[in-house]
Amino acid sequence: MGILYATVDGHTLKISNKLKEQLLLNKQDIEIFSIDEFDGKILDYDKFVIGSSIRYGLHHKKIIEFIKTHKAELDTVKTAFFSVNLVARKPEKNKPDTNPYVIKFFKTIDWNPTVVEVFAGMLDYKKYKPFDRIMIQFIMWMTKGPTDRNTVIEYTNWNKVKEFGEVLERL
Ligand SMILES: Cc1cc2nc3c(=O)[nH]c(=O)nc-3n(C[C@H](O)[C@H](O)[C@H](O)COP(=O)(O)O)c2cc1C
Repeated sequence: MGILYATVDGHTLKISNKLKEQLLLNKQDIEIFSIDEFDGKILDYDKFVIGSSIRYGLHHKKIIEFIKTHKAELDTVKTAFFSVNLVARKPEKNKPDTNPYVIKFFKTIDWNPTVVEVFAGMLDYKKYKPFDRIMIQFIMWMTKGPTDRNTVIEYTNWNKVKEFGEVLERL
């Protein structure tokens, strides 16, 4: 299995690494690649997973380009996609068919992965540049989340990540 990820602050990598640990324990062959280093040889894998975080409403550009360029190969193996964002901290927005970014993503891209999942991400204002911090504070204020600049919250439900890992094993 190959896992391709795009991250800015490392949280999508953390989720990818958790999946890797779990799958290795269960004797699955697994390799992880950053979108910046992958050689594009999807057909070397029987299953291919793509994970991306959200920045200002969008998944990473390079991930979108990758999917568009490699659509034909992706369609010949079992595939999974997972999105990481803060809106998914809300129970009513934490499923592929209720998370606005995932819904919009699949309306705008010609790809139907075998499995799709969405995970709530990490909020850590201290890591953000001033402009980004203020924007995220504003978004959190709008959505009734924490706005204190010392807030550090990992919203990810690791049980859900584990269940996703089990789904990947059975793919
Ligand atoms: C500059 C910036 C913009 C973001 N925009 C959004 C957004 O529009 N919607 C959302 O739900 N989360 C947003 N987030 C939250 C990230 O998706 C979340 O922190 C995630 O865990 C980041 O994963 P990464 O470390 O793999 O990039 C944003 C975070 C940052 C720093």
